[in-house]
Amino acid sequence: MRSAAVFLALLLCLQWTWAQGESGEVTGTDAETEGGNRQEEVQFEIQGVRAAHDQSSSQTNISPDIWAELKELRDMAIEQKVELRNSKSKIEKLEQENAVLESRVNTSENLVEELRRENMVLETRMSSSENEVAELKRENAATQARLTASESKNAVLEARMSSYEDVVKTLQRENKVLETRMSSSENEVAELKRENADRPKVAFSAGLTDAGHVGPFNTEITLKFSKVFTNIGQAYNPTTGIFTAPVRGVYYFRFTLWGGRPSAWMGAYLYHNEKKMTLSYDYNDEHTYISASNALILQLEKGDVVYLALYPGSGVFDDSFNRTIFSGFLLFAL
Ligand SMILES: *[C@@H]1O[C@H](CO)[C@@H](O)[C@H](O)[C@H]1NC(C)=O
Ligand SMILES: *[C@@H]1O[C@H](CO)[C@@H](O)[C@H](O)[C@H]1NC(C)=O
Repeated sequence: MRSAAVFLALLLCLQWTWAQGESGEVTGTDAETEGGNRQEEVQFEIQGVRAAHDQSSSQTNISPDIWAELKELRDMAIEQKVELRNSKSKIEKLEQENAVLESRVNTSENLVEELRRENMVLETRMSSSENEVAELKRENAATQARLTASESKNAVLEARMSSYEDVVKTLQRENKVLETRMSSSENEVAELKRENADRPKVAFSAGLTDAGHVGPFNTEITLKFSKVFTNIGQAYNPTTGIFTAPVRGVYYFRFTLWGGRPSAWMGAYLYHNEKKMTLSYDYNDEHTYISASNALILQLEKGDVVYLALYPGSGVFDDSFNRTIFSGFLLFAL
């Protein structure tokens, strides 16, 4: 009974030491020295227990082996306590680290949340962008098709253009040739105009008389057409009845003779200088008016004369009706 009580006291003592260690403020640096003090205190208490035991040893016989075991047990307890302290400080340290990590985790979670939101926004934008891209691709394809069509059209147009350019070049060359010819033609025209302006203008037309019967006479007489209708160039002389060629050239002459005397001859010669060119005449056997006319183209030298001469024994007639007329003009100079 006595030894059991001693053992109980020892256990209580250990319990107290334990409690002291548990509640003690042990910092990392002085944990060793503090541990040493506690060891002394425990030593003291164990000695106190031993003294109490010694007092009762006379009655109870306890083997010294138990003390040795107790001592060993006490050392183990101390050792456990130190380890425990170390563990606690480790735990605290870990808890601090945990807090830091938790805060970081929270931050990270927030970040993740924020990133999720941003992600959703980005996904929405991405989706709309993808739609836009798809639409742009379609537009691009359409544009590409039009581009291709335009390019092929362009090629066709270029080919036509090139052929047109060739045509234009040819036309330009032809144009130059034509321009040269045109210019020379214009020069010719100008020259011809000058020549034309210089060319003599000759034309006349004259009626014989208003006096009625002329002739008959026994000899030829030159008919003097005194009623001048036209006399450009004044080559015809109404006083003499003679036309004189002002230039060398080809001339046209014509005349019409009228006769009104019954049972009589009517006729006249046309003379070129002294040469008879035609005799035109008729006989009035119907007791009415008769006529004769003719025309000649004559080549005349400058100064040549042309006139009508009344055929001997015949007569002509003229009055205000202008029945007997002599005309002529220059066809062209030579
Ligand atoms: C982390 O977030 C939880 C839940 O919102 C909160 O209870 C805790 O106090 C936060 N910790 C820190 C360190 O902010
Ligand atoms: C005859 O000629 C004159 C003068 O030119 C003219 O006035 C007249 O009307 C002419 N007579 C006839 C019938 O044509």
